[in-house]
Amino acid sequence: MKDHLHRFQYNEQERKKRQDPFKILKDIGLKSGMVFIDIGSNEGFFTIPATQIVGSTGHVYALDIDDVAIAKLSQKIDKLNIKNCLAMTANAEEFCFDQGIADILFLGTVLHDFKNPLKVLKNAKSMLKNNGTLINLDWQKKDMIIGPPPNIRFSTLKAQKLIEKAGLRVVSIEDYDQFYYLIKASK
Ligand SMILES: C[S@@+](CC[C@H](N)C(=O)[O-])C[C@H]1O[C@@H](n2cnc3c(N)ncnc32)[C@H](O)[C@@H]1O
Repeated sequence: MKDHLHRFQYNEQERKKRQDPFKILKDIGLKSGMVFIDIGSNEGFFTIPATQIVGSTGHVYALDIDDVAIAKLSQKIDKLNIKNCLAMTANAEEFCFDQGIADILFLGTVLHDFKNPLKVLKNAKSMLKNNGTLINLDWQKKDMIIGPPPNIRFSTLKAQKLIEKAGLRVVSIEDYDQFYYLIKASK
C-alpha cells in the first residue's frame, strides 16, 4: 500500500444496521446491464452488491490503493464465483479504467481521503459515458459518534465546487439520511 497513511477499519455488521448498500445502489439508479465503477472500494461493501444488481449483462470495476483490502475483495469475488467484476490495487489519482465506459461512477465516503481530489474527479469524468452519473456519497460535516472527525469531512459546498471544477454538472445535492449526503453529477 503506497502513499496511504492508515487502513480503513470498521465493523461491517454494525455498518449494515445503518447503511443498506442494496438500497443505496438502487436509489442512485443502478440497474441490470449497467457498468459501475467503485473508486476507493475497500473490501467491497458496495462492490459486491453492485455485481448482483448489474448482473451478467453488466460489469463492475473496483479499485483501492490498499492492497490488503483488494486482496480481501478478490477473495470474496472468488468465493462467490462472481464473474462480472474486476478489482485492482491502484491509486485513483494516477489510474483510470477505460475511457467512457461507466454508467455510474461511485465515490463512497472517500472524496475527502484523496490527496488530490480534483485529479480523481477529472479521472472519474474521463471514465464516465457521455450520459453517465457521478455519485458522491459522503459524511455530513457535523459532529457524530461515528465516522471521521468533522474537520476532515468535506461540506457539500466544497464537494460541489470540486466536482464542478472537474467539469461535471451537479444535478442534485441532498441529505441521504442522518449521516450522509448524496451528490449526483452528470458529464
Ligand atoms: C472510508 S474508505 C471507504 C471505502 C468504501 N467506499 C466503502 O464505503 O466501504 C476509503 C477508501 O479509499 C481508499 N483510498 C484512499 N486514497 C486512495 C487513493 N488515492 N486511491 C485509491 N483508493 C484510495 C482507502 O484505502 C479506503 O479503502
